[in-house]
Amino acid sequence: MSGMLRGYLADHCFPPGRTMTHARCTIELTLAGLLAASAPCLGADVQAEPARIATQTAPPAGASLYARMGGTATVTAVVNELIDHSAADPRLKRSFEGVNLDHVKKMLIEQLCSLTGGGCTYTGDSMRDVHAGLKIDQSEFYGLVESLRIALQHHGVALRERNELLEILAPMKRDVVER
Ligand code: HEM
Repeated sequence: MSGMLRGYLADHCFPPGRTMTHARCTIELTLAGLLAASAPCLGADVQAEPARIATQTAPPAGASLYARMGGTATVTAVVNELIDHSAADPRLKRSFEGVNLDHVKKMLIEQLCSLTGGGCTYTGDSMRDVHAGLKIDQSEFYGLVESLRIALQHHGVALRERNELLEILAPMKRDVVER
């Protein structure tokens, strides 16, 4: 995708501090060939690259997304930040009240490892079952995705890898969102 299109989608789909408008983003990203028609704007993370730590060794060419994200250390740090932040965020915390956060973190780390080629087996429940009854709406879904994007960036995961992960997670929306 061209830099200009990415720039446009950045402003349109991920305005800083706001949840995005979804219908047009879906169409635009579909046209851009990034996501399936059912997947909204999750692939359009186009913020500036964070400064990479000079001592960080680049993973070998052809490495898994898991390795390119920084492996277990980074994924664990990202998930810890995401869940702690979500459980404290006024927009998101309602769903997390009374929930065993350590268990959710453990399952999410395992799931992300499994989905990104890290070699783990996900032992948790299906996305539909685990979120059933929570009545998660679209704005909560996008709020959590925004928090994930920030946590990834915060822990030095590069733009390409952030976008790859968001594209993998995008189709789960239909199993998480109930209303
Ligand atoms: C792509 C998006 C999402 C993914 C990949 C995801 C993944 C997961 C995973 C792996 C678990 C643990 C499964 C298990 O215990 O077996 C979980 C649980 C949970 N998730 Fe999500 N989730 C997503 C979106 C959301 C959103 C948007 C919310 C609310 C704002 C949310 C709230 C929760 C809560 C409250 C639990 C714990 C449920 C319970 O233990 O009763 N999730 N999620």
